[in-house]
Amino acid sequence: MLGSRIAGMGHFVPERVVTNDDMKQWMDTSDEWIHQRTGIRERRWVEGDVGASELGEHAARQALAEAGMEAKDLDLILFATLSPDLNFPGSSCLLQARLGVPGIATLDIRNQCTGFLYGLSTADAFIRSGMMKNVLVVGGEVHSSGLDLSTRGRDVTVLFGDGAGAAVLTATDGERRIIDHELHADGRYAEILMVEAPASRSNPRLTQEMIDRGAHFPKMDGKHVFKHAVERIPEVARSILARNNLTLDDVALLVPHQANMRINEMVVRQLGFPPEKVVHNIQKYGNTTAASIPIALHEAAQEGRIKPGEIVLMVAFGAGLTWGATLVRW
Ligand code: UT7
Repeated sequence: MLGSRIAGMGHFVPERVVTNDDMKQWMDTSDEWIHQRTGIRERRWVEGDVGASELGEHAARQALAEAGMEAKDLDLILFATLSPDLNFPGSSCLLQARLGVPGIATLDIRNQCTGFLYGLSTADAFIRSGMMKNVLVVGGEVHSSGLDLSTRGRDVTVLFGDGAGAAVLTATDGERRIIDHELHADGRYAEILMVEAPASRSNPRLTQEMIDRGAHFPKMDGKHVFKHAVERIPEVARSILARNNLTLDDVALLVPHQANMRINEMVVRQLGFPPEKVVHNIQKYGNTTAASIPIALHEAAQEGRIKPGEIVLMVAFGAGLTWGATLVRW
């Protein structure tokens, strides 16, 4: 039966390092508060006018090289982001132009921290159906140009980093393939993590009053998000394993979305999963939303933490609310 495998991956983060101590120049915060509550020590932020598709291009070129392919071999580009270069058109169109492959299909995925898993599942479905052979999936974000650097925004601003990760999926009939996906969303909680403006539901979309109260910056009810995350992630992890007749003992590596080290530690404790088999890189990059899983997965692969044939479980949770899991035989 036709399926898809990850033929190559890439990731890219900007050079500029912003430490927790650097944050103190803008807001009332401390390394101790940030590290204790989130595990974050530093993050990467772009300098100047750099959009998500530019970071995505670096990651995509690396993924294509690792896969031994050229951009012209692609049938479809999927771009998962909550920080698109423009309101429209989508960053997938801009990335396609950057890669110099006019004509091929593109699609933006707007599912925040779960975006990369929604992207993998969409790519996998196109490939399984026989409609596409090679699909590029990118998660890319530039948060830094949209954050409130004042003390008002400190609960959110210290969390987010810029970066991109990419995977090239290709058709296979072999054993090493994506096994399954489980995807969820609950739009009743849309407003516990959102950017309110500019938006089509406001007329005009952006006013001075909105800017004055910071409606163009992300707002989060952190405790609420935390509570949902530690419930939904173990649930979806157990569910995807059970429906594939697998157990946690079969999983060689768990790659969770990097939102907060404390969330991931709590999830791992609840699951009773060995902590040494979990990937953490939030200390270096903060939360890069749609880019976090591909960056973490690619780093783990580069460090030799996954052997061919082993099972990798990815889990994500984020704004929407959205959450999900993907199982891969590497
Ligand atoms: O991928 C997107 C999904 N997002 C997440 O998964 C985030 C989930 N939530 C969290 O990770 C946590 O809720 C946070 C780390 C964001 C916040 O931790 P918390 O323990 O929920 O803190 P809090 O928001 O309740 O704030 C506690 C205190 C407040 O002060 P008072 O009211 O107790 O005086 C905040 O004003 O900490 C203060 N505070 C800060 N202090 C120093 C908030 N942000 C900061 C900061 N530095 N950056």
